[in-house]
Amino acid sequence: MKSPYQFIDTPALLIDNELMESNLDFMQKKADQYHANLRPHTKTHKMPELAKLQLLKGAYGITVAKVGEAEVMAEHGLTNIFIANEIVGISKLERIKALNRKIKLRIGVDNEYQINQLEEVFKNEEKAIEVLIEVEVGENRSGVITDDQLLNLAKHIKNSKKVVLKGVFSHEGHSYKAKTIEDCIKAANESQQRTLRSGTMLRELGIDIDTISIGATPSMMHAGIIEGITEIRPGTYIFMDVGQGSAIQDFTKCAATVLVTVISKPTDERIVLDAGAKSLTSQNRSEGICATQGYGLVKNSNGIRLSGVFDEHGLIYNKEFRNSIEIGDKIEIIPNHICPTCNLYEKAYLVSKGSILREIPILCKGKTQ
Ligand SMILES: Cc1ncc(COP(=O)(O)O)c(C=O)c1O
Repeated sequence: MKSPYQFIDTPALLIDNELMESNLDFMQKKADQYHANLRPHTKTHKMPELAKLQLLKGAYGITVAKVGEAEVMAEHGLTNIFIANEIVGISKLERIKALNRKIKLRIGVDNEYQINQLEEVFKNEEKAIEVLIEVEVGENRSGVITDDQLLNLAKHIKNSKKVVLKGVFSHEGHSYKAKTIEDCIKAANESQQRTLRSGTMLRELGIDIDTISIGATPSMMHAGIIEGITEIRPGTYIFMDVGQGSAIQDFTKCAATVLVTVISKPTDERIVLDAGAKSLTSQNRSEGICATQGYGLVKNSNGIRLSGVFDEHGLIYNKEFRNSIEIGDKIEIIPNHICPTCNLYEKAYLVSKGSILREIPILCKGKTQ
């Protein structure tokens, strides 16, 4: 249970190279098997170096959530980027315009306000901006909900001069909350059908779309990909985490951990760690196949979890474990949700079998604008 990386200062983000490679290979193989492009969501790792590794393994392009992430990724050589999010505001769209001159860029839209702002910002621009309409498939977040909303927005874009509609995308985030794996597969299939149907409706309007994009990690771990879906966008699969491990009933695929130090053992069952909410987040998932307990899982521990976090302290209550480790020992914690955890670190240590291979800067850390 004790980490071999006793010489790294803590808290530190570790990435196990072999586990990450195997997770990357799994998803690329899946995309290839179904003849879909893999466009991984890089908001999970926020590291241009890993985005390039994903391309090297066969990914078609990358997904990001924010303009700032796209800018950093583009600066570091990523040239095919989809911002799977509704970008609103003139200053952000000016940045989109500058980026669009340099790379193959697409952004998400779900309302006319955005299209009008894009038309204004791009009015003197030679190269139009390509967009995908987001379709809401059950997550209860952004995206058009009704067929009328979809068609009205598509017609509005069709009438615009500098905005080109290239397809639809959806995110089946509600698959995280499915009660069973069967329900997760059902949610994935229904979401794909709904997204495909939206694509067909656009084609019936005479719009020449080339992309029908779906994807989240739990659904892509379990469901197939229906013919006609051109692209999948899972992100968390690269590292997995306690939520994703719960869904597949296997935590041995979790590639990213936070290395922490035992700093106190104040009672005969309490262990205090030097990492709390500011190093692990205080996220948890309350329901469904991705439900988590506590605030992180001790790697290779047979279920020992953090039962509480302060800002800078994590707490474990377990008498046997407490007696098996010493103050000063370092242990690895699998975070409940790896995406916001990566955003807390300047760099990650890529490790393999007890050695550090190299440090990878997390260049999109904090790029939330
Ligand atoms: C729009 C969009 N696409 C893809 C993903 C990737 O999903 P996951 O994190 O389950 O891999 C996300 C994650 O939140 C998302 O918001």
